[in-house]
Amino acid sequence: MSVYFDEERSVFCLMTENTSYMIGIADGKYVGHAYYGARMEDCGCGYLLRTDERPEPPSRNIREKAAFADSFFYEYSTWGVGDYRDSCLRVRTEGGARACELVFDGYRILDGKPELPGLPSTFAGEAGSAQTLEIVCRDDCLKLKVILRYSIFEDSDALIRSVELVNEGGERLYLEKVLSACLDMDNNEFQMLTLTGSWARERHMGYQKVSRGYQGVGTTRGISSHQEHPFIALVTENITETTGEVYAMNFVYSGNFKADVELSQFDTVRMTMGIHPDGFEWVLEPGASFTAPEVVCVYSDSGLGQMTRTFHDLYRNHLIRSRWLHEKRPVLINNWEATYFDFDTERLLEIASEAAKDGVEMLVMDDGWFGRRNDDTCSLGDWSVNEKKLPGGLAYLSRRLKEMGMRFGIWLEPEMVSPDSDLYRSHPDWAVHVPGREGTLSRSQYILDLSRPEVVDYVSESVARVLRSADISYVKWDMNRQMTEVGSACLDSACQGELYHRYVLGVYELQSRLLREFPELLLENCTSGGGRFDPGMLYYSPQIWCSDDTDAMERLAIQEGTALLYPLSTIGAHVSICPNHIVGRVTPFETRGYVALGGTFGYELDIMRLSGEERGQMRQQIELYHKYQSLVREGDYYRLASARENHEYDCYMVVSKDRREALVTYIQVRARANFHSRRIRLAGLAEDTCYVLEETGRQYSGRLLMKGGILAAPMAGDYTGKLYHFSAVS
Ligand code: GLA
Repeated sequence: MSVYFDEERSVFCLMTENTSYMIGIADGKYVGHAYYGARMEDCGCGYLLRTDERPEPPSRNIREKAAFADSFFYEYSTWGVGDYRDSCLRVRTEGGARACELVFDGYRILDGKPELPGLPSTFAGEAGSAQTLEIVCRDDCLKLKVILRYSIFEDSDALIRSVELVNEGGERLYLEKVLSACLDMDNNEFQMLTLTGSWARERHMGYQKVSRGYQGVGTTRGISSHQEHPFIALVTENITETTGEVYAMNFVYSGNFKADVELSQFDTVRMTMGIHPDGFEWVLEPGASFTAPEVVCVYSDSGLGQMTRTFHDLYRNHLIRSRWLHEKRPVLINNWEATYFDFDTERLLEIASEAAKDGVEMLVMDDGWFGRRNDDTCSLGDWSVNEKKLPGGLAYLSRRLKEMGMRFGIWLEPEMVSPDSDLYRSHPDWAVHVPGREGTLSRSQYILDLSRPEVVDYVSESVARVLRSADISYVKWDMNRQMTEVGSACLDSACQGELYHRYVLGVYELQSRLLREFPELLLENCTSGGGRFDPGMLYYSPQIWCSDDTDAMERLAIQEGTALLYPLSTIGAHVSICPNHIVGRVTPFETRGYVALGGTFGYELDIMRLSGEERGQMRQQIELYHKYQSLVREGDYYRLASARENHEYDCYMVVSKDRREALVTYIQVRARANFHSRRIRLAGLAEDTCYVLEETGRQYSGRLLMKGGILAAPMAGDYTGKLYHFSAVS
């Protein structure tokens, strides 16, 4: 890893082990993008800025400055001075003018990686040192300073970008649009890869050809969303797991975002990512600064697999803060699909004592334990125990569970308020709302205005009070609606456009406070399933409930898309009952276990309804979990075949970092008549190592397993599955 400035050539170089990112200064003024790609020691790449071609830079052809602005490869594009492509920054003055031109004004190279105030951000940590380049630009007319930050880590090929704006003048500036990253490149027949979906159908991988104009993803729902994901990648045609080029961006943020690709008149592409400008406006007072969240950029010239593993390692080593990150997570049983709102202490203890017999280690009590909550129409905000359901409260329940050797976890939805709640009756103005306009309900609830410090204090204290009241090891932090009528009773009228972002900052503040007081807590975020599964939330919680859809077949595509970026250890996955509550599909219990083992693993079902055979399988699954959990949690992940593409089978594997152990998960989605075995070539093994397949005792070289492959024999029935476990013997 190294970061340096070649003064002679006016080029900044950021070198990771396998990549180089180079920034040139044109005309001594314009910060331009020269190169991003495979590592290249030669930083004489300034000519790639094309300043010798027409339109020449303004010093040589001031007459055509606008033409220069419209084609230059900017590191950070601005609005209003001739660049008509998608811009990163649009600023309005008190006089109403919107034009900004950033001019290079110095740089610093720092050891380490600065934190971003109030925002989740990657950190150097113990896993390796970091270096940061800060490029300072100014618009003297606006008296605006812009710091472009680029960080790299010793042990990673990722590049982290963020932007800080400082108002150095005496007048307010209105920030109408502040994106975090921009990447200008020549088109290379790129396709755009995104992760899109819906509730219960999150993060499905999808490609589309990049064509003239704009294409991209984004959301204004107030959360990173089920529908779109704060990720975008440009990939070369016929990309595979091991070949082809990838330029990827992932946003470390949990609110509104926008990620776009624009193919220009000159066949160049501009890729941008940042906070969605719709509904956003930030008032930058004199002397104040604004920091935009960070974007993780990953380049791979060896296909998607390499990109995936770079993200996984970065997030495990430099993003997830939780002390649980590298720890074995307790096997849990959650009562939601077993009881919904209809439970009491005895029912929960019955589930727990049965589950304990099979090796379950924690009971998670889901929604319905507080206020008068017997359905989803009331009581959010009133975080006091319903003693009719739970006499003796949480303390009694947790004590009884402890006697059984079980840990205790609870569900909370702290960001919300039901109109039918004591909290709403005493503070109606604490809900996000537009005065005089009826608020749109969603799941019968409103969102609390977390831009208000007193609301953050209240929520923080009410959550802490619950956690202080009993021995609670785990919290499922839910969030079950999107934003509408985005207004705050507290913010100045000029600052209403800050609410979306201030809300997200409020969520981050709440989770920071929670973990400060309860550092041992295992926090699992959830947003009606996977509606806020993003790097921002992962900074606080080592795992996120991936989807409300627990059907094993649906989960294949959901978990595949999620694991495109996020380690398996972050993917909340449970075995649930059949027919599945979302799709009504019936799959074998065994297969449901195999798929859940590709995530955090646990149960979400009425154990009393399981047959004796299923209870036996449950015990075996838990044994498998104990045996494989550290491999799954820490290993390298390889996609081998996708049922999303072939409609017949799915296969992925995890290989330990030392390549001494591997676990292959094979799922036969559809049985075929009169068909022979499928040959699947494994990946990530050591060629010269000899591995034994546990099931048969047969030995294979790594080379053979990767070039020859294994033969997955056909199984009787759809939705069947099998695990192959290999250990090195030499
Ligand atoms: C959301 C979650 C579910 C469950 C319910 C409870 O939908 O995604 O897992 O906790 O809320 O109301």
